Amino acid sequence: MKEQLLNIKENALKEINKYEKMDEIEKLRVKYLGKKGEITNILKGMGKLSAEERPVIGKVANEVRGEIEKAISDKKEEIKIIEKNEKLKAEVLDVTMPGKKIKIGKKHPITQMMDEVKYIFTGMGFKVAEGPEIETVFNNFDALNAPKNHPSRDMSDTFYIDENLLLRTQTSPVQIRTMKSAKPPIKIIAPGRCFRFDEPDATHSPMFHQIEGLVVDKNVTMAELKGTLDAFVKQLFGENTKTKFRPHNFPFTEPSAEVDVTCFKCKGKGCSVCKGEGWIEILGAGMVHPNVLKNCGIDPEEYSGFAFGMGVDRIAMLKYEIDDIRLLFENDMRFLNQF
Ligand code: PHE
Repeated sequence: MKEQLLNIKENALKEINKYEKMDEIEKLRVKYLGKKGEITNILKGMGKLSAEERPVIGKVANEVRGEIEKAISDKKEEIKIIEKNEKLKAEVLDVTMPGKKIKIGKKHPITQMMDEVKYIFTGMGFKVAEGPEIETVFNNFDALNAPKNHPSRDMSDTFYIDENLLLRTQTSPVQIRTMKSAKPPIKIIAPGRCFRFDEPDATHSPMFHQIEGLVVDKNVTMAELKGTLDAFVKQLFGENTKTKFRPHNFPFTEPSAEVDVTCFKCKGKGCSVCKGEGWIEILGAGMVHPNVLKNCGIDPEEYSGFAFGMGVDRIAMLKYEIDDIRLLFENDMRFLNQF
């Protein structure tokens, strides 16, 4: 019996040495030490032994079991370390590898343009005001002194929601809202979306953007309007930019003008951007009509003001040399990423 036990030990130690996997070692543990294992099997025969032999064999059996147990647990430890090292090797982190670039978006060219214009005017002390895109007919036309038969009121020019509401056709109603809610001195710009019943083509979009400007105070003159716009275009298009005021008509300003600037591309010589003119029309402006002041409860004898409005899309198109306004609203990243 002793022989058998020592044989088992020898075989077990050999086998344990042969294997390198946790589950294989576990199988060996069951094979040798388990309830139905080889050692247990032998010990079952102990009953046949004499009283003298029994403790001797018992001792050998315990020693053999102890040695096998130790060999197995040593081996398991060893395997654990090997597996851990392999895992570390597989998961090695090279901190010198270039990082993955996170794609962050950027501002739409129209928003960039708006920001630039806002930056210039806030630098001159203007506050930014806002108004709703769904406006009353009253604020968009009546309070702005538009005669009842003004062509822009026509259903074919304006998106009406009902007889009192429309999608604003200009940012000028923000003038009305501002003058009704605040006392002069007033000095605001109002950027926002506007809507007109236009068939989309290269230069027209039924949705477009304007930035309105309004200054109301005592003794505001046309010279200040000219000075303000001159300072603005010089910052936007460059120091040498000149302005030209051409007489025009808007119901809400008197006198009114359309304002041209020398072409920023050819500096006035004539090129494809200015269509050979040397000048580019960029905004409408004028002195606030006394009727508009009155409509807002401001006394035109005491106060005067100027207002202007520019098409942001148009200026962005000129500045970034975009030849089709529809490109701005198609949201094609290949286009937008260029700005
Ligand atoms: N609202 C005018 C337009 O849309 C522009 C403008 C604004 C003109 C303010 C004069 C004063 O054409």
